[in-house]
Amino acid sequence: INCGVIIVAAGRGERAGSHPDGPKQYRRIAGRPVISHTLDAFVKWAPDAPIVVVIHADDRDLLAAALLQVNGSSGNIRVVTGGASRQQSVLAGLEAMAGADIEHVLIQDAVRPFADPALLDRVEAALAAGARAVLPAVAVADTLKRAGIDGDVAETVPRAGLFAAQTPQAFHFQTILDAHRQAAAGGQSDFTDDAAIAEWAGVPVRLVEGAVGNVKLTLQKDIIMADERLSAPLP
Ligand code: C5P
Repeated sequence: INCGVIIVAAGRGERAGSHPDGPKQYRRIAGRPVISHTLDAFVKWAPDAPIVVVIHADDRDLLAAALLQVNGSSGNIRVVTGGASRQQSVLAGLEAMAGADIEHVLIQDAVRPFADPALLDRVEAALAAGARAVLPAVAVADTLKRAGIDGDVAETVPRAGLFAAQTPQAFHFQTILDAHRQAAAGGQSDFTDDAAIAEWAGVPVRLVEGAVGNVKLTLQKDIIMADERLSAPLP
């Protein structure tokens, strides 16, 4: 199918702490930047898909170095500058693809380097079946508690029907572009994922099974665990 990919990588990664390699999407796991691994997955899955990588203006050299370490052809990759929030960065990526006659788009966090082909196939299958918005998610396994202001537990939140959202989230291109433009025009700027913008715009979001291994690297420990996972010999 006619599908573009947007990789958002304009964040500063402050929760992971500062590091000489730069923000967490440029930290090395198994010897290569996180974003090189993220790109590998998409380049391998859809070698002809146009890819837009959204970066911070300060990170041009870091990205150029990371692109040299992608496994496979990266000939379809364009680079644009993002904004102060993830939402603004995604919109910059969508605007860069507008007019290119793209039917569907996959939107991926650069800091999720473990998207596997079966997951991408499931997301694509839901689009092919007619969904305009697709969210990979995993059922919450832990018991959930809401904290009170005193630091004690205020209540137990029933976890039935609760899912943790992942990326890539996938959309009919014009539908998500319109929803993002509307959200920006309406001054809505605190959406942390694109499915939430689709929900806000009244677009039904289809849930598909995510992958437990498709973790987001947020904290320093996540980067260390990802490095160990890739570097460790298979059991
Ligand atoms: O900050 P958070 O962990 O939610 O970021 C998720 C993804 O969004 C990361 O890949 C990050 O680089 C990206 N992002 C962005 N522009 C921002 C903030 C985050 O592209 N202003």
